[in-house]
Amino acid sequence: MACFFRKNIASKLAKIFGQPEDSFISAVSTIPVSKKQQSSDFRLSVSHLRQKGFLPSAEDIQTQAESLARQLNRDSVVDDVTVGRAVINFKIKRDVLAEKILEQVSKEGHMFGLKSALLCGQQKGRTLVEFSSPNIAKKFHAGHLRSTIIGNFISNLKEALGNDVVRINYLGDWGLQFGMLGAGFQDYGSQEELKANPLQHLFEVYVRVNAEAEKDEGVRRRAGEFFRQLESGEEEALALWRHFREISVGEYQRIYQRLGICFHEYSGESLHQKQALDVLQRLRVQGLLRTTEKGTGVVDLAAAGDPSCLATVLRSDGTSLYITRDLAAAIDRKEAYDFDEMIYVTDKSQEGHFGQVFQILRAMGHQWADSCCHVPFGLVRGMKTRKGDVVFLEDVLEEAKGRVLRNMQATRTSKELEDPDMTAERVGVAALIVQDFRGPLESDYSFDWGRVLQTQGDTGVFLQYTHSRLCSLMRMHGSGQWGLLDPALLQEEQGAAVLKQLLRYDEALLQCSCDLQPKHLVNFLLALSHLVAVGLRTLPVKGSPPPLAQARLRLFDSARTVLANGMRILGVTPVEKM
Ligand code: ARG
Repeated sequence: MACFFRKNIASKLAKIFGQPEDSFISAVSTIPVSKKQQSSDFRLSVSHLRQKGFLPSAEDIQTQAESLARQLNRDSVVDDVTVGRAVINFKIKRDVLAEKILEQVSKEGHMFGLKSALLCGQQKGRTLVEFSSPNIAKKFHAGHLRSTIIGNFISNLKEALGNDVVRINYLGDWGLQFGMLGAGFQDYGSQEELKANPLQHLFEVYVRVNAEAEKDEGVRRRAGEFFRQLESGEEEALALWRHFREISVGEYQRIYQRLGICFHEYSGESLHQKQALDVLQRLRVQGLLRTTEKGTGVVDLAAAGDPSCLATVLRSDGTSLYITRDLAAAIDRKEAYDFDEMIYVTDKSQEGHFGQVFQILRAMGHQWADSCCHVPFGLVRGMKTRKGDVVFLEDVLEEAKGRVLRNMQATRTSKELEDPDMTAERVGVAALIVQDFRGPLESDYSFDWGRVLQTQGDTGVFLQYTHSRLCSLMRMHGSGQWGLLDPALLQEEQGAAVLKQLLRYDEALLQCSCDLQPKHLVNFLLALSHLVAVGLRTLPVKGSPPPLAQARLRLFDSARTVLANGMRILGVTPVEKM
């Protein structure tokens, strides 16, 4: 949307320099809305013009700025042109600002901002996003929760920008842990408990058999034997494994649904056992595989620029490793989906692993490895529920919901809600997501329920609260139909501040798209919510003459639309009452 104004300024420059308008779009940016209200809205960077060769770099930049500003006239859109340090500032006429933005939001709705010229380079075609990827029978720890919400955000963002997104969950569904589970289930498994509470039961069996195996050599042997049966494809063992996998996936699906997340494919390490052997064969043929004295197979990555690296891809007993299966899985996906880019979301401890995966793929001649990337994130410390350490995703959701529900009961709002549980859950999830997305993904952080759930301040609860306040304003005063808008009635700086923030939405999305960090969008939405709070305080609807009330309602409704759009991209379902 900033488009219209950017275009206006770019077209002036196009005339001056005799170059196409498009070459100037990126030189113009919005000026952040700050506490001490700025009177200008857009800024043209003169150094950008020098970098692009439109102005000679040898001359004094300030003189260039001043002489260029003299040629940039005011018109029906631009109210004022001023010179800053190496920049030229533009102030847009307040009524044009209001008219254009409100018109655009109501015309484009959920597409607002997404068609901006700034974003047109962000379409990459088909994007594969691999995320969540828990290990069956093991803990679903905070790292998996982070991967789940970050991967969902990246998928939503890519989709919003017009990419064809494929969401893949790559389960830890193979390995000695299934030998343990198989052996353990024979001893302490119960079909009834498995049916009643599958994840819990599998986890219990797994913990117990591990403890036994520590003490008992016999248990270890039986676990090894069970895994060998799986590897050699013995039907009885496989049937039990399949059963464990199916019920676990069923449970995962149910819980992901609570987060509004759906995967196109549940793949996993098990599916790439055979292909991993093909990869080894190819590596051998290509002369990339070396056998060490210990009998393991390694790929020497020194030639690829990493002198310290020998990647082990084959155990001495002939079995494949995690990395071998990842190589196979990547090649498989390229064949199945012919993706244009692939994104893996895991904690940062796996950075080295993915670096090696991509390097080996390249060494094998798969140049498309350049279109693969790993998005790493940091650790969460101290995420606990009343039951103690987090073991299951569902416990976190229950805890968040329970706490929000108690807060709502304390303020007695829950009685007025149709479905307090659902509302509490949505507010709780928003709280978790915003807390997690506020900083750079790579940073570690300490988790604190008290801080996460604050109503005021920079939390997901605050975003939900703002959205529901705006909805309630519409319920009270909106007729569902807009009369003629008189934009001249929206001259106050508090209103202009909200409008200017809406103008920045495409820039926030662009930043997210460039570095895949959700913090830009989170901070945008928090800032918008703070501006809305000021607006709601200072620009009353109730008691104002109808045309003014109408104009203000339009303004708040536009803010509500953009807030909801942004929240959805984050993976938050906005609530209408809370
Ligand atoms: N299951 C793994 C874990 O919990 C994450 C899988 C990441 N994806 C991959 N392609 N290796 O650590």
